[in-house]
Amino acid sequence: MALARAWSVALVGLEGALVEVEADLAQGLPGLTVTGLPDAALSEARDRVRAAVVNSGEDWPSKRITLGLSPASLPKRGSGFDLALAAAVLAAAGVVPAAALHDRVLLGELGLDGQVRAVRGVLPAVLTARSAGITRVVVPRANLAEARLLPEVEAVGVATLRELLALLRGEAVPDHPVPEPVEEDDPTPKDLVDVAGQPGGRTAVEVSAAGGHHLFLLGPPGAGKTMLAERLPGLLPPLTLEQALEVTAVHSVAGLLPPGHPLVRRAPFQDPHHSSTTAAVLGGGSGIARPGAASLATQGVLFLDEAPEFGHGVLDALRQPLESGRISIRRAAGTATYPVRFTLVLAANPCPCAQPSDECTCRPESRRRYLTRLSGPLLDRVDMHVQVDRVSKAEVFAEEGSVEPTSVVAARVARARATAAARYAGTPWTCNGEVPPVELRRRWPVPRPATRSAEAALDSGRLTARGFGRVLRLAWTLADLAGSAVPEQCHVDHALGFRLGTRGLPVAA
Ligand SMILES: Nc1ncnc2c1ncn2[C@@H]1O[C@H](COP(=O)(O)OP(=O)(O)OP(=O)(O)O)[C@@H](O)[C@H]1O
Ligand SMILES: [Mg+2]
Ligand SMILES: [Zn+2]
Repeated sequence: MALARAWSVALVGLEGALVEVEADLAQGLPGLTVTGLPDAALSEARDRVRAAVVNSGEDWPSKRITLGLSPASLPKRGSGFDLALAAAVLAAAGVVPAAALHDRVLLGELGLDGQVRAVRGVLPAVLTARSAGITRVVVPRANLAEARLLPEVEAVGVATLRELLALLRGEAVPDHPVPEPVEEDDPTPKDLVDVAGQPGGRTAVEVSAAGGHHLFLLGPPGAGKTMLAERLPGLLPPLTLEQALEVTAVHSVAGLLPPGHPLVRRAPFQDPHHSSTTAAVLGGGSGIARPGAASLATQGVLFLDEAPEFGHGVLDALRQPLESGRISIRRAAGTATYPVRFTLVLAANPCPCAQPSDECTCRPESRRRYLTRLSGPLLDRVDMHVQVDRVSKAEVFAEEGSVEPTSVVAARVARARATAAARYAGTPWTCNGEVPPVELRRRWPVPRPATRSAEAALDSGRLTARGFGRVLRLAWTLADLAGSAVPEQCHVDHALGFRLGTRGLPVAA
């Protein structure tokens, strides 16, 4: 009897677990049995691995072969186990030394011709290997740059099964040049300098970026709502390494990493179309759920343009992740959990006809109904409600240099974020938008006389108790931007204006 073991990784969402692949060769009628894979994947894996071995010039052992993947209870999907399956069979047959497989994790799909194909989720799989104490990994060559994001892991890329076998025999593997990770330069950086006029809208995106506050932009078509939203990610600081690895892992599982520059360093921006399904926005799909736009936007911006046009299901489903910062999607094969810590930006026209107000043909009740599609509970979680109006001709033709570019505003945002992060050192929060208003009022109260206007709004019913807490939270961001140690009356007044910015419409409060 001949036995060999190889290691691979199974992923459920971003969570990985080590999988042991065992090959047993016994005398008897030649055949191949695989256990531990879901039925549909079984026959495909069997055929691919056998064809790849034969087409790589190796003999397929004429034995009774049993391949087992364990733990059996672990959901194992995808074709990333092929390399480990092939290596285990060939090690059991004595073609490669079994010892070479002991401290390596093998990831990769095989083509029938023996080519090694790229797989999704290499970064989270390599993270899993590392936390299990295995620091040598073999990955498809196309995924090598991604695997090398973790410097303490020794990653080798193989383009063919033959290269893998050579590596395991201790022979030199052709050293394919890994494309140098290049800075992903957005080909068309969107700069605030392009937005004419709109002082209120410009301040709104600055404040949103500085505090991580969700933002609702309401205004007529052509006012520049989309322009403003698209410029928000450029105001956010570059991701920290920890954030970058998290965002990259999500994009990796979704199969969206560009091979040349695998590390996502900038705050992502996702703008799903309003016809998108709940699965597309929140994650889903068969097998193990894939991340949706909300998770792809984590640490960045999720922009819902024409927000009232989104399906009720989508808008409702956003509420839970806004509270918890994570989303768990259950499927028969397992429950995948993804991070969803984005800044939400909603944009809407005041009415469904999307005409300037003097040309609007909508009946009053359809105007009213249109915005109520954005449910109160969703809008209640959005700290800033901002009305943007059309820019005037004078503003459009204002001389160059009359508005600030992104670089200037981003510097203020960075300073304000640093102030907030210092205040929240030792807590789970780094920016004002993350701190629950209750905690904020208890631990970082705004001195009493400064809150006069907000208290009056509370008394008169223009502000709910929940809204009151959110106004004070926003006031902290305005104080951080202004360099004040605590919010002053002007900051509270300004924050109140942001909260009640769409006053008169059914969504205010
Ligand atoms: N403030 C502005 N400064 C410069 N150009 C602007 C401004 N507002 C609008 N524009 C011009 O109008 C176009 C449409 O702007 P944008 O898509 O941002 O408007 P919107 O408010 O999102 O409109 P809609 O409600 O129709 O989506 C822009 O591509 C730009 O050319
Ligand atoms: Mg628009
Ligand atoms: Zn209308």
